[in-house]
Amino acid sequence: MPKHPLIAGNWKMHGLRDGLPEALAMDTAARNSRASVAIFPPSTLLFALSEALNARPEPSPVRLGGQDCHKDTQGAFTGDLSAEMLKDAGADMVILGHSERRHGHKEACESVAAKTLAALRAGLEPIICIGETLDQRQEGLTHAVLSKQLRDSLPLALEGQTFHVAYEPVWAIGTGHVPTDDQVIDAMLLIQKHLAQRFHNQVVPHTLYGGSVKPDNARHLLSLDGVDGLLVGGASLKAEDFNRIIAAAD
Ligand code: PGA
Repeated sequence: MPKHPLIAGNWKMHGLRDGLPEALAMDTAARNSRASVAIFPPSTLLFALSEALNARPEPSPVRLGGQDCHKDTQGAFTGDLSAEMLKDAGADMVILGHSERRHGHKEACESVAAKTLAALRAGLEPIICIGETLDQRQEGLTHAVLSKQLRDSLPLALEGQTFHVAYEPVWAIGTGHVPTDDQVIDAMLLIQKHLAQRFHNQVVPHTLYGGSVKPDNARHLLSLDGVDGLLVGGASLKAEDFNRIIAAAD
């Protein structure tokens, strides 16, 4: 486990303003942990959350991020948000290429790469997600799929930048199914090899695991070779659960 594993909570389309106290309770846990903690609330809560965290007497260690961004700075793109807008609302990170975007919104790797460039332009640290479907795994295509996603979603401009790659098998997201230790380690190794070759070891990205992370499997997942942090969905919504995952990093 690295010294400061990244524990990232992706709230997806959950959360209203009355949920802000949950985030403040997470902030309290983050202050007492060696983990780096990041929360990715719905965009409607970014500004309020940023204000609430900044209003605390001591600066909050919790980082905030968006769940997606558009590739352009501004324009006639109804419903979209630019990386600059997320930054303006208090984000300094962004999740890109989440499987719910790749599959639900037919987002191609090339689009993820363009959004990654936008994130860098705006000064947001990206978490780029990759992962195979169950069919792809069963057909023995996992390595090919992950390699293609890495090659086509990660622009060369990432060289020398701080970023993260999250391995999130599609079949593990929200299902309660967690890959075997060997499957996780194998994917982490593939990602790390790719990054070392492609970016000439000039970057030290965090490689994260995501998919059905819970308070009772977090410590074990963090102990696996190559796992530098966790991307947590459902179990990041309540401080009671998320704080136990944060504590698993200690
Ligand atoms: P989950 O989601 O923890 O609810 O499985 C993970 C994710 O989608 O990032």
